[in-house]
Formats: sequence, C-alpha cells, structure tokens
Amino acid sequence: MRISENKIEEIRSAANLVDVISEHIQLRKRGKNFIGLCPFHNEKTPSFTVSEEKQIFHCFGCHAGGNVFKFLMDYEKISFVESVQEVAQRCGITLDLEEEPQGEKQSEQEILYDINTEAARYFSNNLLNHPDGEVARKYFQERKVKPQTMRAFGLGYALNGWENFLSFASEKRIDLEKALALGLIGQNKDGKLYDKFSGRIIFPIFSPNGRVVAFAGRVLEKREGTAKYLNSPESSIYVKGRILYGLSHAKDEIRRLDKAILVEGYMDLISLHQSGIKNVVAVSGTALTEEQVQLISRYTKNVVLLFDADTAGIKASMRSIELLLKREIEIKIASLPPGEDPDSYVNNYGREKFEEIIKRAQNFLEYQSEYYEKQGMFEDAAKTAGAIRELVKPVALISDELKRALLIKNISKKFNLREKLLESELDKAIESAGKQITSEERIRDREAAKINNDAREQTIKKATPLLYNMEREIIKLLFEGSSEVVEFISQNIQPEEFVIEFHAKLAWVVYESFSGGGSIVASSLIEKISDADLQSYILELTFEKYEISKSWEELYPGIAREKVLQKAARDTVRKFKLEQVGYKIQANSRLIENEPNEDEKFNLIKLNRDLEFQKRIISEKFSGS
Ligand code: CTP
Ligand code: MN
Repeated sequence: MRISENKIEEIRSAANLVDVISEHIQLRKRGKNFIGLCPFHNEKTPSFTVSEEKQIFHCFGCHAGGNVFKFLMDYEKISFVESVQEVAQRCGITLDLEEEPQGEKQSEQEILYDINTEAARYFSNNLLNHPDGEVARKYFQERKVKPQTMRAFGLGYALNGWENFLSFASEKRIDLEKALALGLIGQNKDGKLYDKFSGRIIFPIFSPNGRVVAFAGRVLEKREGTAKYLNSPESSIYVKGRILYGLSHAKDEIRRLDKAILVEGYMDLISLHQSGIKNVVAVSGTALTEEQVQLISRYTKNVVLLFDADTAGIKASMRSIELLLKREIEIKIASLPPGEDPDSYVNNYGREKFEEIIKRAQNFLEYQSEYYEKQGMFEDAAKTAGAIRELVKPVALISDELKRALLIKNISKKFNLREKLLESELDKAIESAGKQITSEERIRDREAAKINNDAREQTIKKATPLLYNMEREIIKLLFEGSSEVVEFISQNIQPEEFVIEFHAKLAWVVYESFSGGGSIVASSLIEKISDADLQSYILELTFEKYEISKSWEELYPGIAREKVLQKAARDTVRKFKLEQVGYKIQANSRLIENEPNEDEKFNLIKLNRDLEFQKRIISEKFSGS
C-alpha cells in the first residue's frame, strides 16, 4: 500500500508528539522542551529530549531521534506504513487503504531503490521457496550458510533461463528501461531483453543505511569463460568506490568495539557475521578508495586488514596502508595460513581460532618489513637501501612524532640497522611528503581566490571556524519552519557554497522541498533525509542549547518570532557572504606575496580589488532595516 505524501503530511501535523510519547514514557518540562529517560538505551539521567514546537525528539545519549512516525517505528518495532496508520487512527483521520499515489512524483532515485527492493525480494524468494531454487539452497548448505543468515543478508538466487526476472518485472510493471540501467536485465544485439544474473547466487549490496543499491551475482560452479562474480553497473544510486559491503550490518558493532575488520569478499563477511564476528566490512574486489576510508573513519579509527594470503591480497594490503595512515587510522594487518580466506578459516577452525588471528595482527611496519625480507630484499646492500626507503615512506605520513620514533626503533631492532640511518631516511621522506602538502595547499589557495569558483570543493579543508559557525546558524534557520526565511536564504546561498558537505546536503533537502511546494517544518524535513548520520546531525543542531530564536528574542524583546527569524537570516547571510569573500582575499594575498611573475602579480592584485568591491556591494545589499 502507498499513502500519498499529502496524506502523510496531514496525519503528521494532526498528531502531537508530546502526547504520543507521554503515553509510553514519563516526560517532564524543561525550558521549551520535555525530557525523560530514553527508551532506546539504558540510562539513569534523562537525555531524551522532545520539542513540542518542532515536533521532533532526540536522545543525546544514543542519538535516536526523528518525528512521531519514527518514534512509533522504533518503540513498537513497526513499519513506517503501520506507524502512519496508527497515528491516523489516533487522530481520527480515515486512510483509504486502496489509495494509490496520485499526481505525486516519486524522485528518480526512489524509483530505482524501489525496483532494486522488488528485485531483491524476488531473488530471495527464489532461494528460500522456489522449487528450482534447490540447487542454490544446496550450494549454501554446503558452504554452511544458515537460512537465518540468508535472510539477514537478503541472499537470493536468479533462476536459470533468460526470461524469469523479465516476466516478473513485466508483471510488476517495473520500468524496463530503468531495470536495464540498473543492470538487472541486459539487451542483446537484436534488441532482445534477457535476465542478466541468470543462474547466479545473488548478494544484494546495501547503502550504509540499508537500502539496496546494487547486486553481485556469483556463479554456482566455476566454469571456463564466465566471470565468477557479476556486479551491477554504477548508477545514480550506486557509486562503487563509495560503498563498503556489509557496512549497514556492521556499523553498530564497529562503533561498539571501536574496531573494524576489513576483508575482501562477500562470503568472508557473511561467514564471519554468522559466527558472531560482526564488526566486518568487505571491499569486495576493488582497491580500497579514499571515500571508503572516510566511511569507515566515521565509525572507528582502528582497522584490521585481513586480506587473502595470496599475492593479490598482499598487494592490496600494501596499497591500503598509505590511504589509511593518511586519515590517521591505526592499522593492524592479520594474516591467514596459505590457501585460506576468512570464510574458509572461520568455517574450518571456528570463532576462537579466528579471534586469535586478529589478536596476533601485526603493525604495518612489521608486516611490510617481513614481506621485504621474504623477497630477499635484505640480502645485499643495494637492495637493503631500497627496502628501507620503502619502509620509511609510510612512517612519514604519521603526524605523531613519538609514534614515528617508536616505529623507527622497532625497525632498527628488528633488522639490526643503525637507528641514525633510518632517521635520516625518515627526515628525507618527511621532507618530500611535506613538499607535496605545500604544493597542494598552494593549489587550494589559488582556486579559492578565483571569483567564479566552486567554493565548497576548494575551501573544504580550510573552513575557518567562523565560517563553520555561520553555516551552522544558517542551517538552523532553514529548519525553523519559516517560508520567508527559507526563500530568502535559498535565493542568496547556493547549496554548493556551504563549505561543509553536511550543510550543503541539508540545504539541498530544504530547498528541494520548498521549491516543490512541500512542507518545510523540521518534523517533515527530517523524513526526507535518508542518511542516518545526517539525521542525527540536524537533530543535534536543532536541539542545541543555544537557539537562534531564543537569543534573538532576548535581543529584540516584543518583536514577533517571524520577524526575529527574518532579521537573523538577513544578518547571518550577510556575515557569511562577507566572510566568504574575506577568505578569498586572504588566500589571494598569500599568493600575491609569493608570486614571482610581475604580470601574474598584477592580475592578482586586480582580483583582490574586485573582491574588496564585492564586499562593499554585499554590505549594501543586505544592510536593509
Ligand atoms: N570479485 C569480483 N569479481 C570477480 C572476482 C572477485 O567482484 N570476478 C570480488 C568479490 O567481491 C569477491 C572478492 O572479490 O567476494 C574476493 O574474490 P575471491 O577471493 O575470488 O572470492 P571469494 O570472496 O572468496 O568468493 P568464494 O568464497 O565464493 O569463492
Ligand atoms: Mn572464498
């Protein structure tokens, strides 16, 4: 069943969140808000906060939060639709169960997610129930995968033949053009459509918050000339380098244990999970990317690499080390006996033995030096020098001096090398790493100084604290529910202008809803934010002790809230714009100082004059009463 967005909006705004929650939890008033003991985690002092004004709740302890539907979903463990029905009933709103979406447009991405969800359900049903799914059930049985695990990971099977999924898709009126783009079906030279994953075991690939973005299909038996795994192509909902397989299943445990184990394959992750080791994510066949590292680093700064013991695995480990070190992540490398992968190992030897392997993980220097040693690199003097240089390179990426010194001591002991020698190599490596950084910085400054720049990309790493705080103010204002304020801000600040990516995304959500005639109250907007981290970020921001409206109300007592908000918006936007230009001028001035070429220098000076002029214009434009 589908309920139209308008209806959901009507139901949401008819309910009072404080009343709904009060039925389950004792709330008491504190300031503008209500507080109580959080029902979603164990606590003795209340950090669960409910805003009656904004109709949202947030727990400062466990970061649960959302609107009335979210509360019921989490509290009663029911689905979204069920929660909407429950609230409708409370408020005496009749819900026509047959109701189909009318005139309401689903976003392109939502449609793709829906198609993938339907497909995943179909594949899963084949595996669990279809008579022809027996081969696949047998296969998983042999690999010791339990039905419960199959369900947890949504595993499936694409029946043999070329038109099984195709006819399912037609039956369900799935847009075949889109199914083609998602790689669920293919098209041959004669234009004929066919099932893409035919005869394969299916692994749905989930986004960090658990939506199906792609599929991987594995052949049942290795045959010549067919790839073992077939993966969905990239699409608007799937960018390969930004997904880590299993993260949605692992993130809570990664946070809890403050450690992530990184493996290569789907089956590795699934078998480990099944045996109770759940803080695992898989890179699944590609080299680790910077974006994946960033994803992990949201949850922990401790990573254990556990790649296969073959040469490809070792190479992958070596490459990953640098990437992880750059993000200040503590790396350990665990090794399995030759011929084993995590899946086979945990199935052959069990959880305890596996955990010993993780405990015995080496730090990256030990690992690398052992590798060079095995390669015979320490046998003659010329090769030794090369090996040492290689060893020292990643050490130079670590910013903690003490840590570096300890590592160097370790290498010197291990290989009987003079510490002095290593130190001088290290100095060289640091120097060249430093040079890289300054040239990167120079480029950044240059870009930031351009008038017609994409401010966000270039300045992202250098947001001044001032700029950062102003952005937070502006985002807060966008969530105050005033259409005048949203209109004003959206006319003057493009999402890309926000230096912080979170802010850009949040602004985008508000602008989109606003321009589409949707609701802009916080409790409705929160539903349109799909990323869980982004959700708790905005909740935290909204509940922050210091509230705009409040402090402005104090500054301008007796003026209507709406007027106060508008004043705040104008003032903050002006300051933000001025700070933006000010930042460009600063970056530009640094360039002027170091520019040897006179013509170039002249241009830069001219640029700075233009920027100063812009500043004046901004002051005038936003000064009004
Ligand atoms: N992979 C891929 N395409 C291939 C081969 C491998 O995408 N043609 C990726 C898959 O994510 C796979 C991982 O690389 O899980 C590791 O490959 P491999 O070690 O060959 O497979 P296993 O994961 O061990 O799979 P299985 O145990 O089922 O053989
Ligand atoms: Mn394997």
